Formats: sequence, structure tokens, C-alpha cells
Amino acid sequence: MKKNAQTALIHAPRRAPQYIQTVQPPLFRASTIIFENTDALFNRHWTDAYDYSYGTHGTPTTFTLGDHIAQIEGGLYHLLAPSGLSAINLVNSCLLSQGDEVWVPDNIYGPNMEHLRNLQQRYGIAVKVYNPLEVESFSPSDKAKLLWLEAAGSVTLEFPDLVGLLKKAQAHNILTALDNTWGAGLAFNAFDFGNEHLSVDMTVHALTKYPSGGGDILMGSVVTRDQHLHHQLFRMHAIQGICVSGDDVAQVQRSLASMQLRYEHQAKSTIELLNWLKLQPQFAQVLHPADATSAGHAYWKEICRDGHSAGLVSVIFDNNYKLQDIRNFCDSLKLFKLGFSWGGPVSLVMLYNLKEMRVLEHSHLKEGFLVRFCIGLEHPEDLIQDIQQALKVLA
Ligand SMILES: Cc1ncc(COP(=O)(O)O)c(C=O)c1O
Repeated sequence: MKKNAQTALIHAPRRAPQYIQTVQPPLFRASTIIFENTDALFNRHWTDAYDYSYGTHGTPTTFTLGDHIAQIEGGLYHLLAPSGLSAINLVNSCLLSQGDEVWVPDNIYGPNMEHLRNLQQRYGIAVKVYNPLEVESFSPSDKAKLLWLEAAGSVTLEFPDLVGLLKKAQAHNILTALDNTWGAGLAFNAFDFGNEHLSVDMTVHALTKYPSGGGDILMGSVVTRDQHLHHQLFRMHAIQGICVSGDDVAQVQRSLASMQLRYEHQAKSTIELLNWLKLQPQFAQVLHPADATSAGHAYWKEICRDGHSAGLVSVIFDNNYKLQDIRNFCDSLKLFKLGFSWGGPVSLVMLYNLKEMRVLEHSHLKEGFLVRFCIGLEHPEDLIQDIQQALKVLA
């Protein structure tokens, strides 16, 4: 058929073959997905994985990454979301209804708590806080629907009694969601805690951190092994129009190959820093699950394979230091950059006031300002030198 110039600009004479083998999978960008014919249109099953009907429901590019993440984490079914927080919100908005009760650890990722408080105000969902180190503090009523878990917990990095909490949740028929960002599917298998067939029901993962590894892409996932639960989440995902960019997915897919190498390298550097930090008199407490003095260390040891411990370490400064001292310290760091997030190549530092963050009393935490270091890919000796020079402002 002879085409006018404008039509010819749209319909290229040749399409690249789909069957050539490349190291990275081909990238599909799609809003519209073209149906072969009306049979294909009328027989589409958009609720099934791998049925291609519209960009929001997935493309070969998104399914490839989703499958890969699910496999790494030990799950079967997956959904991708535009950020870790969006994946968290998908779980909350899908599974919680008016009058339900949800349980969260006191060291939960802060914005998850904010989302739940928002649901509490609007729908009367009861948000209950438990101490992740004390299973007894999780005392669900018959309205309890969902238990959130985080291992290790945000900022103070306590490792929870996962086995104890899961057993109790299972006994009460409560769904469990683990924020698996710290473990990244490498430190432990959240769907198999050994021979007792203990498993979480779903994991949420901020792919923004280790899977992306670049400090430049935002993405999240929800993984399950339960088809019924997956379909529930899938429907909410679809009706909310939650989707991700094919270009971003391809970047994360490309970074996955090096994830374990980066994770282990960052964890090793973090241990080097930890050992040095512990000797510095300016710090009243150093928090890291692999350290024998840290809360939940025994649970970490029991669960994390090969001593995996990620790249985060927090310090509590001696209580004599004022906020301005700690700000001066942070401002004097040169390699560590002041910013949120973790898992990227650049080391980061963030300042927290624990008093504003915790609901329960925690006798294991000393008084004082807390700084969290996220260790990047720089040489640990340089990072130690950087902290050393910044500590001089405290003199
Ligand atoms: C434990 C944890 N979960 C979830 C998230 C949210 O991820 P995102 O930044 O992709 O929204 C973060 C982000 O810092 C996090 O630390």
C-alpha cells in the first residue's frame, strides 16, 4: 500500500526482529498494546499474569523484572509499583477495611505509619503498635487483619522475633506483610523460615534501594506465594492504575546482576565502620544487627544466612551534645551526603530525633540524637577518615 508522507513517518517499513538473543532482555514501552484481531481482544484475560492487554497491566519488560524479584525473594506472584511507599500503600488500601485492626512494629518505616494513621482517621481502622522484640506486646483482637513486619527495623535497626511473631499471627489467622527492603531477598527467605513451614503472606520491597543500586530510580514490589491473595492485590493494583515505566524497569533489571556483589561489599564495609565507630567516645551507642550488643542480635543470627547484614549502621551521640553539635557534624562530612534513602553508590547520612519517632518506651536505646549512616561503594577507609575529620567539630 502506498503511504502519504505523514503516515510513512508513523509506520516504519521494518521492525526489528523479536527473536534475537541479547544479554539484557528487550525493552517494551507501552500504553497501547495492539491486539492481533478481535478474537484476541474478546478473549483477553487481563487478570492473568502474562496476558497483554494494556500498559498498566504489564508488558514483557515488567513481567520479566517481577518474576526475577519474586524468584530472588522466594515468592511466586508479583506486582510492581512506582515506589516502595506506593507498594506499601497498595497492601494497606487493598487489605484493610473499616473497623479492621492493623499491627505495626514501633520501628516501622515512618511513611507507612503515616499512611495507616491517615486510614485510621478516615475509615476507623485501629493502628496498634507492638515492640518487635517482645511477641507478647502483639496482642491481636478478633478484628486484627494485618501484621506488618520489618527486619531489621527502620533507623534503630532492631532485628525482630520474626518466628515468634509469625507463629502468633498464623495462630490468629492474621495476614502478614514484611517490608523486605533491608534483606532484599538475600539475607533470608521470607517465604521459608525452615522446617516449620513458617512464611510471611507477602513481602513489600523498595526496589529503589539495592535492586536499583543507583540512587536514581524509584520502584517497589509486592510478592506473594498465594494466588488468591495475589488476585486481590492485582485487582486493586489495576483499578488504581498503579504502573511503572518500562525504561525504569530495564534499568533495575540491568542492575540486578550486580546486586549481591554490591550488597555484600556494602555489608562488609559497614562492619568495618561499625568496629571503628564502637571505639569512638562521642557515641553512646552503635546500632547494627550483627553487633552482639544490638537489640535482636540473637534473632538476626538465627535467621540471616551467611551473616548478611546490609549497609546501614546508626549511632546515638552522647547525650551531652546539642542538636547544633550534631548538625555541625553532619554538615562537616564530605563523602557522606545528607539525604534520604540507601542502597546506592554514594554513602548517605541522616539525622533523627528518636523522641519524635517512637510510641513505646525503649529501655535498650540510650538518650541522645541519632545519626544513620548508609554505606555506599566508597572504600571504607575513606569513609572512616571522613567521619574522623567531621567529629573534630565536636571538640
Ligand atoms: C524500609 C523502607 N521501606 C520502604 C521505603 C520506601 O521506598 P521508596 O523510597 O521507594 O518509596 C523505604 C525508603 O526509604 C524504606 O527505608
